[in-house]
Amino acid sequence: MGKNKLKKFAEMDTMQCVYQFPYQTLAEGACPLRGHWRELAFHNDRPLVLELGCGKGEYAVGLGQRFPECNYVGIDVKGARMWTGAKQVTEMGLPNVAFLRTDIDLLDRLFAPDEVDELWITFADPQMKKVNKRLTGTRMLNGYRRVLRDGGLVNLKTDSPFLYTYTREMARLNNLPVLIDTDDLYRDGDSLDLPDGLLDIKTYYERQWLARGLTIKYLRLALPHRGDLAEPDIDIPLDTYRSFHRNQPSL
Ligand SMILES: C[S@@+](CC[C@H](N)C(=O)[O-])C[C@H]1O[C@@H](n2cnc3c(N)ncnc32)[C@H](O)[C@@H]1O
Repeated sequence: MGKNKLKKFAEMDTMQCVYQFPYQTLAEGACPLRGHWRELAFHNDRPLVLELGCGKGEYAVGLGQRFPECNYVGIDVKGARMWTGAKQVTEMGLPNVAFLRTDIDLLDRLFAPDEVDELWITFADPQMKKVNKRLTGTRMLNGYRRVLRDGGLVNLKTDSPFLYTYTREMARLNNLPVLIDTDDLYRDGDSLDLPDGLLDIKTYYERQWLARGLTIKYLRLALPHRGDLAEPDIDIPLDTYRSFHRNQPSL
């Protein structure tokens, strides 16, 4: 591992806003924060919102700055990326944002049933060939149901026409209430019922896709607990642009 990464990891060990737990602790069901995030990490009882696959954490930090009435936890497996957001939170003394280094598959080891109010999924890999890894697939949604309150919100921001179409179909097939649906957030934003300032927050990946002329799609769904979720069985054209090198100037 590079020196820079090691330095970031060592620094993260000293940051109060960063949480990570040995796998053994999670396997034994012994995560001390499970069921107590509001009280122990944030010292309040405000709603708890997770950003899944937060990367450098721009979204978690941006939400935390604009909406002090909620608590935010950015989650990613990659600690070196998360360091950027954690450093900002530490320097700003932002009390309502934390970062958790873990795999999304382990959410129910880290959060108790109904502990989470809302999820954000920002620019996730659409996992076009691996439905089990797709962050809006039935396997993952069932995982979210184990920690998200009944009818809790799932927000998806994506560059991917594939993931957007798939997730809309998932909602249609399973009667999941769709609260907001746009295939071009920055065209439609002013006419949508969005909290003030939401459109100003752009993630690292989002800025790259916007610079290449892609539109950003946004879905806000509610995820009730009742009923089995069925997997959409439709043919969706694959995204062709994703394999291009990221600094390619145009599509
Ligand atoms: C394409 S990046 C997007 C990062 C950020 N949301 C953004 O928009 O800049 C996807 C992120 O999801 C994380 N990720 C993917 N699968 C994950 C999993 N199962 N558990 C935790 N993080 C995951 C990756 O490490 C990566 O940082």
